[in-house]
Amino acid sequence: MILDLTEEEELVRKTARDFAEKELKPRAAEIDRRGEVPRAILNQLAELGFMGIITPETYGGAGLSNLCLALIQIEVNRACASTGVTISVHNSLCQSPINRFGTEEQKRRYLPKLTQCEWIGAYSLSEPVSGSDAGALISTAVRDGKHFVLNGTKNFVTNGGIADLFVVFARSGRDLSVKHAAISAFLVEKGTKGLVVGKHETKMGIRGSSTTSLFFEDCRIPAENLLGVDGEGFKVAMHTLDGGRIGIASQAVGIATACLEESVKYSKERQQFGVAISSFEAIQWKLAEMATNIDAATLLVHRAARLRDAGRPHTKEAAEAKLFASRIANDAANEAIQIHGGVGYVKDFPVERFFRDAKITEIYEGTSEIQRIVVSRALLK
Ligand code: CAA
Repeated sequence: MILDLTEEEELVRKTARDFAEKELKPRAAEIDRRGEVPRAILNQLAELGFMGIITPETYGGAGLSNLCLALIQIEVNRACASTGVTISVHNSLCQSPINRFGTEEQKRRYLPKLTQCEWIGAYSLSEPVSGSDAGALISTAVRDGKHFVLNGTKNFVTNGGIADLFVVFARSGRDLSVKHAAISAFLVEKGTKGLVVGKHETKMGIRGSSTTSLFFEDCRIPAENLLGVDGEGFKVAMHTLDGGRIGIASQAVGIATACLEESVKYSKERQQFGVAISSFEAIQWKLAEMATNIDAATLLVHRAARLRDAGRPHTKEAAEAKLFASRIANDAANEAIQIHGGVGYVKDFPVERFFRDAKITEIYEGTSEIQRIVVSRALLK
């Protein structure tokens, strides 16, 4: 139980929970099987304001806090992690940098379409040569009069196949020996000549979410689609990921909570040696451990989100939340399978999906190893 929510926050949480319970949970296995989140679900989420959670009302958003974003993410991911990451990237990785770094014209042009779910947003930083070492990206954006011309290959773009707008990072500085200062952020619309979206990746988990590569071949975009200051794109990328990492930590809390709930339910039903297996200390300790970890991870998520809302430094806190929450989500998924035994290993029970979905939280938006680098640098600076 979380005690520090305001009435509004509690209402937002309850709205998300009711929707997730009624609309998402019954369809999550099918979303996983079919490899697609139905657009109708995203439209329903838009009606609740969940496709523009932190975007101001002026642009059609719900104008809510980062804490509310986290609360919604936890509830949505408790039911369906594929839907969870789809809306996380749309809100945190695409709209958030436009809100923070965009010009008034960019906000007016893109945010209403995104918040109303006419358009879906994506974020494209990783490249085949630069994953954890994001600053080593080699895609280029060369200024040519009133345009930038983009060339390069991007990979692991969440929402790649369904997105209408991409926040793309490329090297605009001519001096390639300059690492970070040469990177800029751009807004690229789907359908721009020279932008080709790659095939849908077949993944272990979050199978309903779309992941693709992007290929830029002399892709010419208007110069006014530069997002933020030329040469300051790496900071845009990192500030955006500070928020995105709170979203993935929330996703991990949601998955862990689902693991605990299924484990409590199953252990009370399953009889062995003439009694419910929940009467065994071996099971009780697993449940107690899961519950304690979930509460601790939730508090880390809330702290990071509240700091971001207050405009205070939160890079370390977001990294800690993601590091811890992703670890305990994987532990919870592992224990949930163990509690279920053989039936946990087959697809008839949802814990098999939770196990597959949990793993990515330790990888995307910065691996656990990168989160440890971020935390330790803050400690040692
Ligand atoms: N906010 C603002 N600025 C920041 C920042 C932050 N959180 N972190 C760093 N910076 C600034 C630094 O202050 C520095 O600026 P100056 O040059 O002016 O001093 C500049 O950025 C470079 O910083 P570092 O020297 O720390 O950079 P680095 O090369 O050592 O990299 C890193 C740091 C933390 C390892 C970074 O590369 C990183 O986060 N890597 C992981 C990348 C990642 O998370 N990728 C996920 C992609 S998205 C995804 O997963 C797919 C999806 O769609 C979900």
